[in-house]
Amino acid sequence: MTTEILDCSEESLIKASEFIMRGEVVGMPTETVYGLAANAFDAEAVEKIFAAKGRPSDNPLIVHVSDFDMIKEAVSDVPELAYKLAERFWPGPLTMIMPKSESVPYVTSGGLDTVGIRFPSHPAAHRLIELCGVPLAAPSANLSGSPSPTTSKRVLDDMNGRIPAIIDGGESLVGVESTVISFENGGVRILRPGGITREMLLEVCPAEVDRGVLSEVGSGAVVRSPGMKYRHYAPKASVKLIKGSVEKYREYVLHNASEGDFCLLFDDCEAVPGVPHLCYGSSAEIQAHVLFERLRQLDEKNAKTVFARCPDPDGVGLAVYNRILRAAGFCVIDLEEK
Ligand code: TXA
Ligand code: MG
Repeated sequence: MTTEILDCSEESLIKASEFIMRGEVVGMPTETVYGLAANAFDAEAVEKIFAAKGRPSDNPLIVHVSDFDMIKEAVSDVPELAYKLAERFWPGPLTMIMPKSESVPYVTSGGLDTVGIRFPSHPAAHRLIELCGVPLAAPSANLSGSPSPTTSKRVLDDMNGRIPAIIDGGESLVGVESTVISFENGGVRILRPGGITREMLLEVCPAEVDRGVLSEVGSGAVVRSPGMKYRHYAPKASVKLIKGSVEKYREYVLHNASEGDFCLLFDDCEAVPGVPHLCYGSSAEIQAHVLFERLRQLDEKNAKTVFARCPDPDGVGLAVYNRILRAAGFCVIDLEEK
């Protein structure tokens, strides 16, 4: 199969919607990361997403809608709080887990009785869903285990020949995937941090961060979100997340780096002599925007070990920390520890 790159014109979006309504999978831009979209109600089409990604079948997909009415087609019982949060944060990077309706096949929900719903704000995603007239299931458009793609080129790198078309909607604005929440005790639990931060959610209701966000879930442990189990966002290089002052970081890298190793620095950091580097911004927003692209660039440079400065886990930084922690396979070196 050849993979065609489409622009965001109405004509191209109609073409993309025709692929989807014929049961195919299309690369779709969103404001978080690119997704692989198929008709959420068509089990056979959704199977093709899992095949294209090489994704484990127990990892559920997020279902994307283009208006509030569409939620009712995919959800059997919408909590009152969901409407409040939707009003405040949709369209945008917030996924809410709710009981699924019978229209959503178990392939889509990874065998669960719940489904994650999101209303993306990217205009091309919005229009595509509208043209299809059905909710679209869409996981991130990477091969399972690789960093999520934030440009159509990166989708093509992973999906060339596996899907018929990719819509090029420019660079994803946020750069990390949506915040995933579930409902409990009149509030919400954050299962995956993203562009809608805990602080923002707290303005509406109680919001707790699940333990799995910041620590490794043991094998065999019960997890609230199957995605937590998998080593995610992993580049081929071995990433070490280094906590501590810039001085201690430099000293550590000078003593431990060898040929082929790289530093991943904040923008305002000086290079460590003799060790090549990439920068990933200084603010949490920029770090979120570029992190996955940097991880892919490090692979292109055949980086062996990457010594990454540890991001500040505040606001959107919690999402950055969560992703880089997984990229590092939970390897954190704390230089301030006595
Ligand atoms: O920003 C995003 O959310 C992107 C774009 C394309 O919309 N999509 C995305 O999908 O990141 P994916 O499949 O790569 O990640 C979905 C995450 C997984 O960790 C999955 O386990 C969790 O959401 N999830 C989905 N449905 C769930 C459910 N019913 N219960 C618990 N976790 C769920
Ligand atoms: Mg993903």
